[in-house]
Amino acid sequence: MSDREWWQDGVVYQIYPRSFADSNGDGVGDLRGIIERLDYLNDGTEQSLGVDAIWLSPINPSPMFDFGYDVSDYRSIAAEFGTVEDFEELVTEAHRRGIRILLDLVMNHCSSEHPWFREALTSREAEKRDWFIWHDGNEGGTEPPNNWLAAFGGRAWEWHEPTRQYYLHSFLKEQPDFDWRNPALKQAMWSIVRHWLDRGVDGFRLDVVNWFLKDDELRDNPVGPLSLDRLRPYDRQHHVYDRNRPETIGVMKELRRVVDEHPHRMAVGEVFVPAPGDPELPAQYYADGEGLHLSFNFAFLYCNWDAGSFARVIDRWEELLGPDLWPNYTLSNHDQPRARSRYGTEERARVAAAMLLTLRGTPFLYYGEEIGMTNGRIPRWRMQDPLGKRYWPLHPGRDPARTPMQWSAEQHAGFTRGRPWLPVNGDYDAVNVERQDGDPKSLLAWHRRLIHLRKREPALHRGGCRRVPQTVADVLVYERSSERDRIVVALDFVSEPRRVKLPEGEYRVLAGTHRAADAIEIGSLELAADEALILKRS
Ligand code: NOJ
Repeated sequence: MSDREWWQDGVVYQIYPRSFADSNGDGVGDLRGIIERLDYLNDGTEQSLGVDAIWLSPINPSPMFDFGYDVSDYRSIAAEFGTVEDFEELVTEAHRRGIRILLDLVMNHCSSEHPWFREALTSREAEKRDWFIWHDGNEGGTEPPNNWLAAFGGRAWEWHEPTRQYYLHSFLKEQPDFDWRNPALKQAMWSIVRHWLDRGVDGFRLDVVNWFLKDDELRDNPVGPLSLDRLRPYDRQHHVYDRNRPETIGVMKELRRVVDEHPHRMAVGEVFVPAPGDPELPAQYYADGEGLHLSFNFAFLYCNWDAGSFARVIDRWEELLGPDLWPNYTLSNHDQPRARSRYGTEERARVAAAMLLTLRGTPFLYYGEEIGMTNGRIPRWRMQDPLGKRYWPLHPGRDPARTPMQWSAEQHAGFTRGRPWLPVNGDYDAVNVERQDGDPKSLLAWHRRLIHLRKREPALHRGGCRRVPQTVADVLVYERSSERDRIVVALDFVSEPRRVKLPEGEYRVLAGTHRAADAIEIGSLELAADEALILKRS
């Protein structure tokens, strides 16, 4: 690839705005809070994290049934997060520091309080009626049109008595699905995309793009057998008709053309694939370079802590995308348990960070991962997430990964002067930014070192990636290479030393969890327990 884009070379940091920094003491994070913390993210020096972009989970007005993933006005800012002026200031201040802004666009559905849906409810002849998916019931109206279920529980069809039809909602009943087969709806969406591009945003994270189109005949999904990992009826269905329709790729190509009307903008799609997470479907959304710029590969989220399972994902993803499409990786987000909790120890979190930040592809880093935030324990009565409320105790919901950012050991971890909307995680006096800031051995310092190293070394931010096969299990070794340089990354996934084979040559340590920079190693070497090592061939 000759002409590189910022979103290929850079690192993206995801902010869950409710939980990042609260400037006005109402217990909910806000845009001003983010502005105040921009220097932490990137002040142009290696004392800051050095990220290149932030993705903000939704900040549009919303009744917050699903915390912003139910939008009631696509062109404005939710009052609890700030004003349009605050947002403009955020864009200016972020850009001044070289930080790009990605908005989360939720276009599969809106809020049931959106004026479009309110109008659609007024009658079967309403102007916006067919912007949504309505259908008569079966059995004389008493039964839903088919067997589709909502991802958050119950039927995907809600009966509307005044107009005597069902409407489709793939998530909550307060989140009616749009009909993307309707050209007028599509144009309305492109106009929203243009609205934000015109205001200087650098791109979008697109919510559940593989849900946009549904089967035009509304056929029943096939249902699989009950099993221990498929206890929810929703998980037993094969979602071939209510999502993952091949026609969706055409819509993605159109979307790409709209985004590309402005230079250097990007769109990354959430193509949710449940465990075990083969990235084949996300790869399709790149449409050979004519679809989305990036489409999330969530497969790492489902890997057990063993070198082999990560190696298989990397090989598969590289094979699916080939040299011309650009991969991406992520270890956590606002819907999944935190990586630090999944992997169990800080040593492993260091190895995982080294992997995330040295692979070929854009790394997406979830807020708080850089200091090792763990899943919070949320008492039942403070639970907020609708998924958790519905499935507790079978499923803890997503609140544990959304607790307030831990800035310091002060009250409420320095997140707010008020009462936080979700309880702060109990480990905040030990796990916080202030404590790790000046400590060169901290997890935060390790992230800073890795991100700045990635920036400095072309082989790391743009080079090719080749796995270096090993005879022992438990280690992952790969080589990143640019025209000039070769960098080898060696990771030990067990708490025991392991010998690894390196490609021939002499090496210099660029960064490591266990040894000083600049030591020379030759040929083969023994990794210490839980060691991550990045070497450059001299
Ligand atoms: C995926 C988002 O990541 C999740 O948080 C949300 O609940 C659903 N889409 C519905 O919009």
